[in-house]
Amino acid sequence: MPASASQSELSFYIHIPYCVKRCGYCDFNTYTPAELKVESSLTEISRDYIDLMLGEISMARTFSTASKVPTIFFGGGTPSLMEPHDLKRVIDAIGTRFELTQDCEITLEANPDTITKERLIGYRDAGINRLSIGMQSAVPHVLQVLDRTHDPENIAKVVTWAREVGFEEISIDLIYGSPGESKEDWLRTLDAALSLDITHISAYALIVEQGTKLAAQVKRGEIVIPDDDETADKYILADEKFRAAGFNWYEISNWSKSGSPSRHNIRYWLTENWWGIGPGAHSHIDGRRWWNVKHPTAYRERIENEQAPMLDQEVLTSEEIAREEIMLRLRLPRGMRLEQFNLEQMAILENFRSENYFEEEAWSAGEITLTQSGRLVADRIVRELVL
Ligand SMILES: C[S@@+](CC[C@H](N)C(=O)[O-])C[C@H]1O[C@@H](n2cnc3c(N)ncnc32)[C@H](O)[C@@H]1O
Ligand code: SF4
Repeated sequence: MPASASQSELSFYIHIPYCVKRCGYCDFNTYTPAELKVESSLTEISRDYIDLMLGEISMARTFSTASKVPTIFFGGGTPSLMEPHDLKRVIDAIGTRFELTQDCEITLEANPDTITKERLIGYRDAGINRLSIGMQSAVPHVLQVLDRTHDPENIAKVVTWAREVGFEEISIDLIYGSPGESKEDWLRTLDAALSLDITHISAYALIVEQGTKLAAQVKRGEIVIPDDDETADKYILADEKFRAAGFNWYEISNWSKSGSPSRHNIRYWLTENWWGIGPGAHSHIDGRRWWNVKHPTAYRERIENEQAPMLDQEVLTSEEIAREEIMLRLRLPRGMRLEQFNLEQMAILENFRSENYFEEEAWSAGEITLTQSGRLVADRIVRELVL
C-alpha cells in the first residue's frame, strides 16, 4: 500500500467484475455467476460485493491525504447489474470520507440488457450523473459475431428513458472492424448512433484479445478479421460524420459535444491520481502504481482479513514517467508542447511533420496536434519517440 498521496484531488474507479454472459471479444476482469459457481441472486451478489468495496474505501481514506474527489467511474464488467441503492452506498462512503466536488462527475457503464426506466431513476437518485452505454453496433449480424446479446432496438429506448429521468451526459461505446462488417454496416451504425440524443461517443477498433472466444474462432479460420486499411477507412468515416454532427475528438477514440468530454478519462490520460477499488483494479498516486488481486474470491479474503487487496506495485522512474506521458498525451489534441522533446525526438517529429501528421497551426504555437492521418499512425509515432 502506498505511503500517502500528496495531491489534493483523488478520483475513484469502482470495478464491478460481473456480467450475465461474457461477450466473445472481451478479456476484461469479469465473471459470470456460472464461472463463480455461486447460487446467490445478483441482488445478493450486489449487496455482499459492495460491502467489501466499502472496506477498501476506508483503507483509501487512511492512506491518501487527498481531500477532494472530482470524478467517480463505475466500470466493469457490468456495473448496471448492481442495485442503485448499493451504488449509492459507495458514493456516500466516498462522500463522507472525502469531499465530492460540487460538479463531481459520476459515471455508470451500462449494458442495455440490464436497464429499465425505474432502474435509471434509482441511479439518478443515487447521484450518478453520466451514463455510458455499450451499443457496439446497430447491425444484428455484427452484434452476433461480437457475441452480444442485447437487442439493438433497446439502445434508443434506454437513451430516451435516460433523458426523461434527467441524465444530461450520455455516452455510447461503438466497435468497428468486426469480422463481416461492411462499410455500409458501419455507416448504418454511425447513422443510428448519431440519431440518438447523446453528448459523447467512444469508438474502438476491435482488438482480438488472446484467450477469448473470438481469438479461438479466428485461429480456427471460422472468421476473418478485416485488413488494417479497411479499418482505417472506417475510422475516417466515423471522424467525418462525428465532426459534421458537432462531436469533436478530444482523444483518438473519443469524441464529444462541446463541454462534454469524460473528465474521468482525461484524468487518466494526464496521469492524475486515482484509486481503483475492487478486484484487479489499478491505482496511481504520484508516480506510484499498484494493482489489486484479480479474482473476486481472493479480494474477498483480503478485505475480510482486513488486509490491503494490493497484489503488487511499482514506482516509475523519471524516464518511465516521461515515456508514459508521450504515450498518453500524444493521443490528446494539444497534449504536448514541443519543448518537452529532446533534439533526437525533434528530428523524428520533423520527419512525421513532413508527412502531414501534425496540424501546422498548433505546431506554430509550439504544440502537437495530430491530423486525422496522424491519428491513424499514432502508435507508430509513439513507438519511434519512446524507443
Ligand atoms: C466494460 S465495457 C462497457 C460496459 C458493458 N460491460 C457493456 O459491454 O455494455 C467497455 C467497452 O470496452 C470496449 N471493448 C471491450 N473489449 C474490446 C475489444 N476486444 N476490442 C475493442 N473494444 C472493446 C467495448 O466497446 C465496451 O463497451
Ligand atoms: S463487453 Fe461488457 S458485457 Fe461484454 S463481457 Fe465485456 S464487460 Fe461484460
